[in-house]
Amino acid sequence: MKSNTAIGSNSVCCAVFFGCLAISAAALTPARAQNVSDQLNKYGCVACHAVDTKLVGPSFKDVAAKYRGKSGAEKQLIAKIKNGGSGVWGSVPMPPNPTVPDADLNAMVKWILSQK
Ligand code: HEC
Repeated sequence: MKSNTAIGSNSVCCAVFFGCLAISAAALTPARAQNVSDQLNKYGCVACHAVDTKLVGPSFKDVAAKYRGKSGAEKQLIAKIKNGGSGVWGSVPMPPNPTVPDADLNAMVKWILSQK
């Protein structure tokens, strides 16, 4: 009887745990930007970029405005972030970020280009 009770409370535990996972997954899906802002933090982009203020690099709104409607912009910007470079916004170079995974670059560039 005692062990039955223990099993019973274990499965309640699991149900609560998985319930929480499901809820947090659902909560995260529409908030993709939250995800991207975590990435921007994690990769140190925010040291030089902000959404609507120029820091060392251009604001993400300025970047979005510059490339809006340009075909190939995503690819070009992914390569630029990876390899670094200068001359588009001024003489200050962006250092290369070769270790950022493509999936994250993709998500960040999509998000940056969607800023208005
Ligand atoms: C040390 C400062 C610094 C860091 C860190 C940095 N950037 Fe930049 N970024 C710059 C500068 C400076 C420019 C402007 C380069 C130019 O004029 O060509 C720039 C330009 C850009 C552009 C526009 C490129 C273009 O050619 O128009 C994007 C998009 C961008 N950065 C995204 C990122 C992302 C994403 C990260 C993080 C992985 C990041 N940056 C990290 C300084 C930085």
